Amino acid sequence: MADLDALKRAFLDRFGGGGAGIRAFHAPGRVNLIGEHTDYNGGCVFPAALNFGTTMLIRPRGDRKLALASENMPKAGVFDLDGLAHDPADDWMNYPKGVVVHLAKHGFPLSRGYDILYCGEIPSGSGLSSSASIEVVTGYGLLRMEGHDAVDTVRLAQIAQEAENRYVGVNCGIMDQFAVANGRKNHAILLRCDTLEHRLVPLDTGGCKLVITHTNKRRGLADTAYNERRAQCEKAVAFLRTAFPDLKLLGELSPRQLDDHARLIPDATVLKRARHVIEENRRVLEAVKALEANDLAAFGRLMVDSHRSLQHLYEVTGPELDALVDAALDVDGVLGSRMTGAGFGGCTVSLVREDRVEAFRRRVGDVYTKKTGLVPTFYVCGIGDGVKEVE
Ligand code: GLA
Repeated sequence: MADLDALKRAFLDRFGGGGAGIRAFHAPGRVNLIGEHTDYNGGCVFPAALNFGTTMLIRPRGDRKLALASENMPKAGVFDLDGLAHDPADDWMNYPKGVVVHLAKHGFPLSRGYDILYCGEIPSGSGLSSSASIEVVTGYGLLRMEGHDAVDTVRLAQIAQEAENRYVGVNCGIMDQFAVANGRKNHAILLRCDTLEHRLVPLDTGGCKLVITHTNKRRGLADTAYNERRAQCEKAVAFLRTAFPDLKLLGELSPRQLDDHARLIPDATVLKRARHVIEENRRVLEAVKALEANDLAAFGRLMVDSHRSLQHLYEVTGPELDALVDAALDVDGVLGSRMTGAGFGGCTVSLVREDRVEAFRRRVGDVYTKKTGLVPTFYVCGIGDGVKEVE
């Protein structure tokens, strides 16, 4: 986490005034262990909060202005609380602005303005949810500053998702905001995205580490391709309604039901998308079972199946992510590896025997760089808490 003393000095340099009344909040990033592109289909996901994310320092102002600045982003701005329109020129500041607007829509209007300084540790575009992290830390911090001591973090995740969908204009599902708001140290969250029923599962990886590897490839065009996948899933539902008139989301179907009715989907691409979603949904439940039975080898195999399905059926991996996974699976002591997040660049997550982590870095780094010309970044990942106030 960010050095709070240094951050406080930076805060005072920027906004002036005294240190009294400044409070600090932190929200993590997330890694999804399995269950990709299932959330907006009402399926299951299995993410965990990371031990790094976004720290926010905040202090009330005497007027109705919102002053936003970041240690990582050049843009800063001061906005009128009563006129927070979306503006592409405001860049990253649209995330906190959107959260303020949507908090108000849900009955939490701000009673006064605030100075806010962020410090982010999640590379943007890495697929580790830097945007959900900033949304959730903003919503949580503001609610606490406004005197709401028991914040409902499930509701907060929904409001943050709504801000991203309607204000920022990215049509994401609930997984990222939910994980960032509700994570727990050394646990992953089994979440059913249609009902938001969830369960914390101890993440006991025995003698293994979870290693995140960043392709360092920016996710170009990711939003367009993401929305296209969503539309294809909706098409699949429309076709399948001939047999299931009440069907709302693909997550309601079993692989068997899809097999029995596959002929109702005349479009081969749409059928592939549906197959991924429905099989991935089942893999999540199998993976949680394997983890709870301490069968890490089975968990690892399901991670690989998930990646191959994202590669060949959902087609959201791309050469860089595939190169990382292929290189990882060639290293002795690797139990599983897959892309995590939306895809098209970003990161993989691998389950690696502890004594092989150094060899993993060396070998995967070499092979990946030879193949792609890019240098990957490795994080041996720690699983942290969801959003909270920090002292
Ligand atoms: C992004 C979205 C999530 C989810 C994943 C894919 O991270 O924000 O809602 O759809 O992609 O699983």
